[in-house]
Formats: sequence, structure tokens, C-alpha cells
Amino acid sequence: MEIKNEAILVMDFGGQYTQLIARRVRECNVYCEIKSYKITADEIREKGYKGIIFTGGPNSAYDANGPKCDPKLFELGIPVLGICYGAQLMAETLGGKVIGIEENREYGKTEIEVNPSSLMFHNAQPKNICWMSHTDRIEEVPHGFKITAISKDCPVAAMEDIQRNFFAVQFHPEVQHTVEGPLYLRNFLYNACGCTADWKMDSFVSDTIAYLKEKIGDKKVLCALSGGVDSSVAALLVHKAVGKQLTCIFVDHGLLRKDEGDQVESVFKEQFDMNLIRVNAQDRFLTKLAGVSEPERKRKIIGEEFIRVFEEESQKLGKMEYLCQGTIYPDVVESGVGESAVIKSHHNVGGLPEDVGFEGIIEPLRDLFKDEVRKAGLELGIPEFLVYRQPFPGPGLAIRIMGDITQEKLEILKDADAIMREEFANNGLDREVNQYFAVMTGIKSVGVMGDGRTYDNTIALRAVTTSDFMTADWARIPYDVLEKISNRIINEVKNVNRVVYDITSKPPATIEWE
Ligand code: XMP
Repeated sequence: MEIKNEAILVMDFGGQYTQLIARRVRECNVYCEIKSYKITADEIREKGYKGIIFTGGPNSAYDANGPKCDPKLFELGIPVLGICYGAQLMAETLGGKVIGIEENREYGKTEIEVNPSSLMFHNAQPKNICWMSHTDRIEEVPHGFKITAISKDCPVAAMEDIQRNFFAVQFHPEVQHTVEGPLYLRNFLYNACGCTADWKMDSFVSDTIAYLKEKIGDKKVLCALSGGVDSSVAALLVHKAVGKQLTCIFVDHGLLRKDEGDQVESVFKEQFDMNLIRVNAQDRFLTKLAGVSEPERKRKIIGEEFIRVFEEESQKLGKMEYLCQGTIYPDVVESGVGESAVIKSHHNVGGLPEDVGFEGIIEPLRDLFKDEVRKAGLELGIPEFLVYRQPFPGPGLAIRIMGDITQEKLEILKDADAIMREEFANNGLDREVNQYFAVMTGIKSVGVMGDGRTYDNTIALRAVTTSDFMTADWARIPYDVLEKISNRIINEVKNVNRVVYDITSKPPATIEWE
């Protein structure tokens, strides 16, 4: 979907902050795309990027086997900013020298002294804190470059060639610890690249609706709505564009949280007057899952059954030309280097096979990061409780019940989870903690209630803070909140006599228990 006027290219050399760099650029209201370092100078010219940012990466710029850029891109007349490995690569490629550091390696918060008359540090404080993390450094700058920042152990903390518009910083302007990082990035984007900050969510919403209207014409669109923020925003954009030509199928597999199915139905049917079909398929899913304990089998059964139900329902509707999906940018980013190991098959329920006979797929959020999807959702008037909903796995509560799934276990878990969520909201923790939920552990233990012995279920509470869900820390929840949740669960939920709190980070544990 080409509706962007100006774009920055973020060239990925395998650094851990690649997506963060892209998000920071977007926060400056400049659209950007992440591409592998393998992109050629010709492709860059064709795309008409206004500037290029090289990310960091784990390699050494002087290592012949490390990732390199097409050197011809330096002849395109496009401004380039190199960050960390990207800075060293620029130095090495343009005739400077990079060396490994034996002693005094810099890691963490570091004071830098900058030249405020340089372009990169225009209006910056002469001394400030930045985030360093490197084991190599630029020893000699290439011809034409001036040093624009130094630190105690880094003689070239930044350099620039103002004639050719090339800039390099050894530190990471994208991380929060670099105090004036956003200013440095704005200086590059606005003053070097000449970007006009035209990437705004209100214009994204109106441009996308206009684009979809044109593209869809009088054809029909089908969407699998899960009630999660991505599919909700995608569906609503299409609905605003073509109204009742869109039909949404909401498969309620019965593994959703308490009252969730009703909430989704009421928002989309009543508030937005959408064509929504809710399929109550709880019995079907529970029958298929009966006696199944193995987590990956649960996922597989739910994924397959979901597709079956969806297909059956969509066949009743007759021909639909388009399928709308809530794919977002992090799902489509081409990574620069490497592949990570698959720990769990995170197939999303709602992920449909491509051969279901549609003329095309509509993915209005393909270019957006999650925080941008949320902004678009608010712009469209979706209630905050849906827009800020914590992530919820496609297989739902099935992977939060250890062992086999029964109606009774589901009810217990739904009630316990609802209490936890209510108390998190009451105590303002719902926005602070990134994901939190109750788990039916499958453990029974002995307790005493009144004067009698009990032998009942154990509920675990899980709450984590994380920025990317790849690693996570257990949240330090105040004891009085934990106490309140525990008391309420024991008192209000039948057949639970013990509540425990999970204090494991990821790794070594995962966020979900299955
Ligand atoms: P883990 O448990 O792997 O979870 O640390 C990381 C994030 O992914 C979610 N998750 C899933 N999402 N289908 C999904 O759509 C799945 O099968 C699945 N398993 C885990 C989890 O909730 C967390 O946000």
C-alpha cells in the first residue's frame, strides 16, 4: 500500500535494537522501513528513500565475513547515519580504521562531550549521558569526516562529513538511557534528510480508509475477528471504508476470558453496527480437546478446528473476494541476520491458510508497529479497554490449564483470572505490567478451611514486564495487592485452596506455562 510520501530506510545488520530504531524514527513522525543489509544501491535508489540508518550488529567491521553494505549506496547522495556497528562499517568502508579494544571497553551509561555546532548535535547540551555498548572503536576517521563527539575511552564517539551528509555515532541514540537521543535523531531526520514529519496516525487512518474504498470497490470482504487489538483495528478500517460489504466472523472457542465474547460482540455489533457473526463453538472445541494434555497438541487442535469452523461459516456466506487480516509490521520485517529457535509454535488462531479461494488479502496494518496500531484504534473510537488489552494467545485459556481441559477447570480459571484482572485495574497495574493472568496448575494440595481438611486446586498468578515478549522479568507486585487477590480467589472461587505467585523470569521460563 503506497500511501507514504517520504521514507527512511533502516538497514538491519543484526543488531538487537533494530526495531527500536524504527519505532523511534516513527515517533519523530517519519515513516521508515526495515530491510536486510543485503539491499542493493539500485533498490535503494528506486525506492526513493530520503535517508538511511545503519543499525548496530554483533560483528566487527574489519572482519571479512561480517555483513557489509553495498558500497555504491554512498554514491547515491542520500544522507546516511551509522549507529555502533553501522558507524564502524561506515568508517571502514570509506577509508577509516576500526580496531578492537583490549582494555577500557565501554558498556552502559557513558558521558559524552559533543560539538553543538555540528548538524547531529545542533541545540544539544555540550555534555550528556549516552548508552555505549561496543568492543571495537573507530581509530581513524575517513577522509572528509570531522569528529563531533568524544568520551573518556572513545576518541570518536561521533563523526560527520557534512559535505556528503554522512553521520556516525558509536553510542545508541535509540535507547532511553541516551538522554538527548530523540533530539540527535530529529536533527538527522529533519535537518540532514529534510523529512517533514508527515507520518501521523490521523492521516494514516483517513488515507487508509480512502485507499481501501478505492481498492475494494463494490466487492465483499471477510474478516476473522478475535477481539484482539490488531484484528479489531484492521476490521474497523475496512468497515469505515465499505460498511456492510465487510462481514466479520468471530469464532468463540470458549477459551476466552470471562465475559470477553459478549464484550467483543457488543462493541462491534452495537457500537459500530458491523456485520458480525459470532459462532458459539465452545462444545465443539471442548469435545476435540477432551483428554488432551500435551501443549503443542492443544495448539494444533485449536488451530485446525478454528479453520474448520471459519470455513464452514464463510461457505454459508457465498462468494467473498477479499480476506482482511490484522498482520502488523513486526510480523513481516525481514531480519538482517540469523533465525531464532522455535520454542513454541506461536501460530495465531486466526492465521488462515492461503488457499481458501480469495482474490486477495487485505492487511491494512502491515506497516504499523503495535503502538501505532493502538493510536489508530483510539483514532477510530475503539474503547480503551480493547485498545490497551494485554496480549492474549490464540489458543486462549487452553494453554493456561495444565493437563486436560474440562468445563469445570475452565470456569475456575475464568473466575480466578477475572479477579486478578479486576484487582490489577483497581491498583493501576494494568498499564504498567505487560501481561498478567492466572494459571490452573493442575496441582491439588491439602488445605484447611473452617474446621475441615480440603484437597483442592492450586491457582498460580503470573505477571511480567517486558518490552518485546522475547525476554521478560516477573513483575514486583506489591504484597498487599497479591494478598487481596489471593484472599478473593480463595473466598470467591469454588474448589481453590491455594494461590501461588510465579517468580521466574524469561528465560529460563516462558511467559505462558505451556
Ligand atoms: P511465551 O510463553 O513463549 O509467550 O514466553 C510469549 C508471548 O506469546 C504469547 N503466546 C502465544 N500467542 N499463540 C499466540 O497467539 C500461541 O500459541 C502463543 N503462545 C504464547 C504469550 O501470551 C506471550 O505474549
